[in-house]
Amino acid sequence: MAARTVAVVLAGGVGERMGAGRPKQLIEVGGRPILAHAIAAFDAHPGIGEVVVVMAAGHLREAGVIAAPFRRVTGVVEGGATRTASTVAALRVLEDHPDDTRVLFHDAARPFVDAPVIDRVLDALDGHDAVAVGVPSPDTIVVVEDGVVASMPPRETMSRFQTPQGFRLGTIRKAYELALADPALRATDDCGIVHRYLPDVPIRVVAGSERNLKVTQPLDAVVAEHLAQEDLP
Ligand code: CTP
Ligand code: MG
Repeated sequence: MAARTVAVVLAGGVGERMGAGRPKQLIEVGGRPILAHAIAAFDAHPGIGEVVVVMAAGHLREAGVIAAPFRRVTGVVEGGATRTASTVAALRVLEDHPDDTRVLFHDAARPFVDAPVIDRVLDALDGHDAVAVGVPSPDTIVVVEDGVVASMPPRETMSRFQTPQGFRLGTIRKAYELALADPALRATDDCGIVHRYLPDVPIRVVAGSERNLKVTQPLDAVVAEHLAQEDLP
């Protein structure tokens, strides 16, 4: 039997940079909450068997209402103070799943993830234990230290990471086990945890999409509304 595949939609943040007075994943674009768009993309994908939603404390009821129409959602759980803590909350819910389960972690703040992106992640998981989604950077990216350029990596080697990030459950479990034992733990995403704590595990990078933006600040909500309305490429 093929391994199970679980999508975890991470909605445990409070959206400080958006400043909307409530978590940004609850804001509506194209007539429905950003969180609903994100859940729908995985719920409708034939390769996904189960969807787990991690929600900010104090907003579980709203998340439950949003998730209710989606038949693959098996749980809405409370997240933690950091994205890392929210991922750990999801891993706890998946404790009884076997190590070869495929798990995709997705930012709820990316409402326009689409089936081709999810396909590429799932396909790459056949040959890799860790998969990231990246897009080229139109801007030159430099390392700045103390207000001065410290290094300029060649632009063609730079990639901006998006989500979903996919893993064999056994791999991401092991990485977090090591991470949680490290008092100096810090990372912005799950690939960051694998890269740091399991440096021998290659992280395959597949193509993301410019539509798969992360709604982070007020301008992004304007762009997202346009994308939702006009189905721009
Ligand atoms: N996230 C989470 N748990 C947290 C923090 C973030 O599940 N404690 C989720 C967010 O809900 C979001 C994704 O991780 O879907 C990416 O995080 P980010 O864009 O930083 O969202 P927020 O943390 O909500 O925003 P901000 O940093 O501006 O407060
Ligand atoms: Mg954040």
